[in-house]
Amino acid sequence: MREVGVERRMRVCVVFGTRPEIIKTAPVILELRRRPTVFETLAVCTGQHREMAGPYLEMFGLEPDVNMEIMQARQSLDSIVSKTIDRFGPVVEEFRPDVVVVQGDTSSAFSAALTAAQHKIAVAHVEAGLRTYSLANPFPEEMNRQLIGRLAALHFAPTNRAAENLLGERVAREAICVTGNTGIDALFEVLQSKGKKVEVVDPAGLGQEHQRLLCVTMHRRESLGEPLRNALAAFREICDRYPDVRIVFPVHLNPEVRQVVQSELGADPRISLIDPLPYDQFVGLLNRCHFVLTDSGGIQEEAPSLGKPVLVLRENTERPEAIEAGTARLVGTETAKIVGAASILLDNEDEYNLMAKAQNPFGDGTAARRIGDALWAWHCKRT
Ligand code: UD1
Ligand code: UDP
Repeated sequence: MREVGVERRMRVCVVFGTRPEIIKTAPVILELRRRPTVFETLAVCTGQHREMAGPYLEMFGLEPDVNMEIMQARQSLDSIVSKTIDRFGPVVEEFRPDVVVVQGDTSSAFSAALTAAQHKIAVAHVEAGLRTYSLANPFPEEMNRQLIGRLAALHFAPTNRAAENLLGERVAREAICVTGNTGIDALFEVLQSKGKKVEVVDPAGLGQEHQRLLCVTMHRRESLGEPLRNALAAFREICDRYPDVRIVFPVHLNPEVRQVVQSELGADPRISLIDPLPYDQFVGLLNRCHFVLTDSGGIQEEAPSLGKPVLVLRENTERPEAIEAGTARLVGTETAKIVGAASILLDNEDEYNLMAKAQNPFGDGTAARRIGDALWAWHCKRT
């Protein structure tokens, strides 16, 4: 790649702030910073997650240039959106980036994209084109990513299917670049630097060698209330039916999740409720477990790389690639359905082996490099 004078460098502002945004933008920021003669990079943290951000920033050695500190306890969507717009506007005015990069589908990512668009600054969307086409599931993420898709000038789609979704929405082919998911770059980075033997805290919760360990996470807004309670009942029932099963559940810091999980499962000695794990330790847990039950988006992408089946505790998924590859199964949140699906994996070795394939439809660990190349090519065309 040719070098340029300082005045021709591309000014890129990358926005992040929740746990998965940090994990998935870190490879992009680090890649851009490896090319300082070409990119001037401003790392802007929304602060949508506060305590949950620290260990992830630290692990990737990311120091935000700006922290907008928008988080408040039990924050509403309105508060996330209005604070992000209020605080990001002046950042954009001062830095005058050539492009604002947002990732995924959080309310702060949408708000940052809207702010950039209002300031007539181009938006680039990492993890573009994921769709369920049901605005209520997941909520508000489906709405956010569709809106970002309308605003973006550049769409970094993780898969061909995501690119097809965008083409179906009449996004110009030349505005789409299929890159793989940057989350897989992060996963490969951890696996390469630490190997698959990443240490997991709370060894007591991991049970004995002969015990089968299930990894559970749940945090989505549409899961709160009855769906979450139904799933928690299913976890207890799975432990009742299978005495050799232990569950490790790193519980999201959302108080609306924590209170219910603690009151329903806190007294159960077979279920270990722990704080969110730093990323490398969570990868260790994924690698150590028998299979995963989750409503998370990112975990649906990571587990297939480690050959771990995923039971998706949601009504739909924007990541059908894993279902089609046979590594994930859409189970929903009814107690009986969750217990039934888990029982199949626990009873039937053939069924388990069919799902436990180490193959990843979401990327090959080179997404950030492709994004860097595409950003620069786009900039060169314009200047
Ligand atoms: C947010 C995103 C969701 C993403 C998820 C990743 C929105 C609306 N939601 O959901 O798309 O999948 O992050 O984890 O953008 N809290 C803390 N400390 C923290 C983080 C959260 O105390 O470090 C508590 C706060 O009370 C906060 C609440 O959790 O108000 C919910 O956080 P919020 O970011 O609004 O929603 P998430 O469910 O984390
Ligand atoms: N994760 C983690 N520690 C945990 C739970 C999850 O590091 O205790 C990672 C996980 O590996 C994935 C990301 O957080 O990369 C997923 O975040 P989350 O489920 O909160 O958000 P989603 O992907 O659903 O938007």
